[in-house]
Amino acid sequence: MAPSIRSTALSLSKKALALDKSDVLVAFKKQFHDPKKLGKDRIYFCGNSLGLMPKGVDRALQQECEDWANWGVEGHWKAKNPWIDYHKPFSKLLAPLCGAKASEVVAMNSLTVNLHLALASFYRPTKKRFVILYEANAFSSDLYALESLIKLRGLNPKLCLYPVDQLDSKSVIKAIHDIGEQLALVCLGGVNYYSGELLDLKKITAAAHQAGALAGFDLAHAIGNVPLKLHHWKVDFAVWCTYKYLNSGPGAAGGLFVHEVHGNDKNIPRMAGWWGHEQSERFGMRPGFKPMNGAEGWQLSNAPVFNMAAQRVALTLFKEAGLANVYRKGKSMGDFFLECLTTLGTPEQNEKRVYAFSIITPLESTRRGCQLSLRIHDKKGRALFTLLEKAGIIGDWREPDVIRLTPVPLYNNYKEIFHVAKILCEKAYLIR
Ligand SMILES: Cc1ncc(COP(=O)(O)O)c(C=O)c1O
Repeated sequence: MAPSIRSTALSLSKKALALDKSDVLVAFKKQFHDPKKLGKDRIYFCGNSLGLMPKGVDRALQQECEDWANWGVEGHWKAKNPWIDYHKPFSKLLAPLCGAKASEVVAMNSLTVNLHLALASFYRPTKKRFVILYEANAFSSDLYALESLIKLRGLNPKLCLYPVDQLDSKSVIKAIHDIGEQLALVCLGGVNYYSGELLDLKKITAAAHQAGALAGFDLAHAIGNVPLKLHHWKVDFAVWCTYKYLNSGPGAAGGLFVHEVHGNDKNIPRMAGWWGHEQSERFGMRPGFKPMNGAEGWQLSNAPVFNMAAQRVALTLFKEAGLANVYRKGKSMGDFFLECLTTLGTPEQNEKRVYAFSIITPLESTRRGCQLSLRIHDKKGRALFTLLEKAGIIGDWREPDVIRLTPVPLYNNYKEIFHVAKILCEKAYLIR
């Protein structure tokens, strides 16, 4: 490194220490298990994929085991957290993360299952209105869900799906206007899984409504990462998983938001199951499905208790931390990470570093969450990713050329951000 970069590095490392000192969430790191390799500490920047395990999870699972062992079927009523209504407290814990009323939110199933359920209700094509606007590089599962539902409706996905190539809010809104009267539904990732770009869900929803269509979002990479106000923005539906920013464990139960304008409309067609049936009559076992009010009316099955026990612990940590603190730190971490990458990555004359990268996540903090996606040039991405792994840095790799690196507020610190940027920029320089 040239001396100028050395002195920059020194001042950034001092800044990192100062930021850690004033961090009100610093104590939360101890509440999570840190992955190790051969006994060595590693830096975990992969909260965008699988969040770390809260330490209280072992005890929570043990509690459910004890209750099952001690009570058998009576655990439905007598367990510490009675299984019969196990999902209910989750709505209250998840609602602030969505900016929703508790009645608009339910924890259940997995993301893709919930997307199918939501599409079954909210994609109701007519001869005139049948187009779904989606992102050209959508997460594969979302696209499969969209294509398969269109086929189930007896329609042709090629005619019904309108991909937006340029995934920023302005282009999405322009596409909404272009499609006009044929638009039935806008279905997008709130934060794009690949680039980390945060869309303006408020404006997109308003534009969809103005065109006479509905708006639904996949919030896999948004919930727990960026502030959301789904109720206020009048979003029609949203789905998410909880194993990323919400640290609820591999395959953890996902969630569904249904705006109350739809949630209390009993006539909305839906895929039904007994747990969505009017609670007071659920055990009557009579024919004729009567949906519960709110998002709960989309439930199919009784809660998978062992799956959800970890989520209860994780969501309680968010409540303790305070969402405003989480978002403030997330934004500040993103800003600091960018500062480190742009200054330490500055190209030098007679550049000797063999890797070149650019940052494909928008630089403005209003257009991103914690994730930064780096495009590695000249087909050298895999090699650089392996070098980072060897240096004890856990990020993730997305074909064909992107490394995603995500420091998160509850268990990462600024010192780690500095360290990751320094290691990376010793090997790679930034192309703007
Ligand atoms: C953006 C996005 N959508 C959908 C999925 C699929 O989620 P699930 O396997 O929980 O259905 C994922 C999983 O990582 C995702 O990142």
